[in-house]
Amino acid sequence: MKLRTTRITCLLLLCLLFTDARAQELMTNVYGRQLQSLNGKWDAIIDLYNQGRKNKIYLNRKPQGKTDFYEYAFDHGLRLNVPSDWNSQMPELKYYEGTVWYARRFDAPRQADQRLYLYFGAVSYRCRVYLNGEEIGSHEGGFTPFQIEVTDQVKESDNFLAVEVNNTHTTDAIPALAFDWWNYGGITRDVFLVSTPNVYIQDYFVQLDKEKPDQIDASVRLSEKVANQMVELEIPELRIRQRLATDSEGVARASFRAKKLQRWSPEDPKLYQVVISSESDKVEERIGFRNIGVKGEDIYLNDRPIFLKSVSFHEEIPQRRGRAFSEADAVMLLSEAKALGCNMIRLAHYPQNEYIVRIAEEMGFLLWEEIPIWQGIDFENDDTRQKAGYMIREMVTRDKNRCALAFWGVANETQPSAPRNEFLKYLIACCKEIDNTRLITAAFDLVRFNRESQVFVMDDPFIRELDVVAVNKYMGWYHQWPVTPDKAIWDVARGQPLILSEFGGEALYGKTGDADIVSSWSEDYQATLYRDNIEMFNHIPNLRGVSPWVLFDFRSPFRFHPTHQEDWNRKGLVSDQGYRKKAWYLMKEYFESIQ
Ligand code: GCU
Repeated sequence: MKLRTTRITCLLLLCLLFTDARAQELMTNVYGRQLQSLNGKWDAIIDLYNQGRKNKIYLNRKPQGKTDFYEYAFDHGLRLNVPSDWNSQMPELKYYEGTVWYARRFDAPRQADQRLYLYFGAVSYRCRVYLNGEEIGSHEGGFTPFQIEVTDQVKESDNFLAVEVNNTHTTDAIPALAFDWWNYGGITRDVFLVSTPNVYIQDYFVQLDKEKPDQIDASVRLSEKVANQMVELEIPELRIRQRLATDSEGVARASFRAKKLQRWSPEDPKLYQVVISSESDKVEERIGFRNIGVKGEDIYLNDRPIFLKSVSFHEEIPQRRGRAFSEADAVMLLSEAKALGCNMIRLAHYPQNEYIVRIAEEMGFLLWEEIPIWQGIDFENDDTRQKAGYMIREMVTRDKNRCALAFWGVANETQPSAPRNEFLKYLIACCKEIDNTRLITAAFDLVRFNRESQVFVMDDPFIRELDVVAVNKYMGWYHQWPVTPDKAIWDVARGQPLILSEFGGEALYGKTGDADIVSSWSEDYQATLYRDNIEMFNHIPNLRGVSPWVLFDFRSPFRFHPTHQEDWNRKGLVSDQGYRKKAWYLMKEYFESIQ
């Protein structure tokens, strides 16, 4: 026991060390700050052999005399939209994995006592940032934001910003060498120049206490470790005004009662205007308040057991064959989930953009968010573990004020091993270091049929580290039925809530007939598969949620079949052109049947 405690303590210390190093770098609620958008068309150079850094093209030099010349120029060349992946912008870039340089100029007018930051919503997968010829920062991880202070490097006008982006997949990356989605590269989310007061409200966490239905716990951190700074937290609609003072760390904390609080729920996604002011800064946003917890095999939302009517989708607009990045994209994806009758979204398999998270909360969806610890990760590599720690902290820091977020997912389909267990325990520690209010989960593909007992079982002791256990099981697709669905009894993770986080099968929209032939890729076979799985749900005693894989057909280099797939994973309930398949209607009927 002592060894285990020591190990967790070490993990936490490791987390603290890195948390200190990194958590200061992300300001909360960037959309609530003073912003100058740097979105738009950027100049670009495709650097297939990674020659650009060696040749210092970020200096953007121009020939001066008669004898010097440069074999590059950013202006008058390729232009790429930001935000967007590059794959969907040019046919030649569809499969491109490598380096692309982005560049643009910008002016930075500002008042004297202001600080300036460059903020990137996400850059896939790794990048180095150069400003006016100097490297000012780098980031790894294709799905979480980062920012770089440029107060002292930026000029009033005509700044030259270059970003060297690379999306080559590697063994030590997250995700690693192969994954079942398109490896989109590029500056895939918003880019802002953010200005703040010298001492600003850097971070805050305002949520309902884990157990109490009417107590709000709040902490506000200033950008500087200054004590006795006045901080005020208001929730006008609740007639709450808390006047606080910061401690020597620059942090102010409070817990206070909130009478007549209307708790957020999918049926009633109530959000309150929360205004936080310090002596020199003011930030506001709409925040919801809800309780989420587990008792035995039940998941409780606001003191009532809930069944999760979930669905997954990738951050992709199929018709555009590209990454989703805008509010309009978020509304399209989420509206289809609302029409299906869902009360939860599993945002697979990586943190998706902030529009999707915020609009999902406004529309009334609980959320499961995860970093892409997807199958073959190098769990024995310390560098990889640190990277995963950064990513999960960036995800939790960005979204911890979103009450819709109920689950932090730490893994998808990993295989049991001591290194994997240690790696995931570190991630859980990193999560809880910032937010210990949400449920921790992970998806496993380890359920198997035990022929002696004629029961579906799973054996991975790691599940005891989780609040909720999730399993991906493709009965009728990757696994044929060993018994008829009405005899498919499960004995998995008893004593804990269980979510079927993935099930389903492929169908080419419009293909019909062959309702009993898997290789038909027909909608009728997919419908048969859904009917059979829905029957099986009745025989999983601790089932507390299902999440069909997947709402939309999505692109994947895994999917080679020349007529049925053509680089598309066709498990969508909706085709890549936006047409609902027969199974969509079965799923809607099932969700409607659940009270
Ligand atoms: C896995 C995996 C998904 C993948 C799916 C499939 O369970 O989690 O990312 O797309 O199976 O094979 O379609």
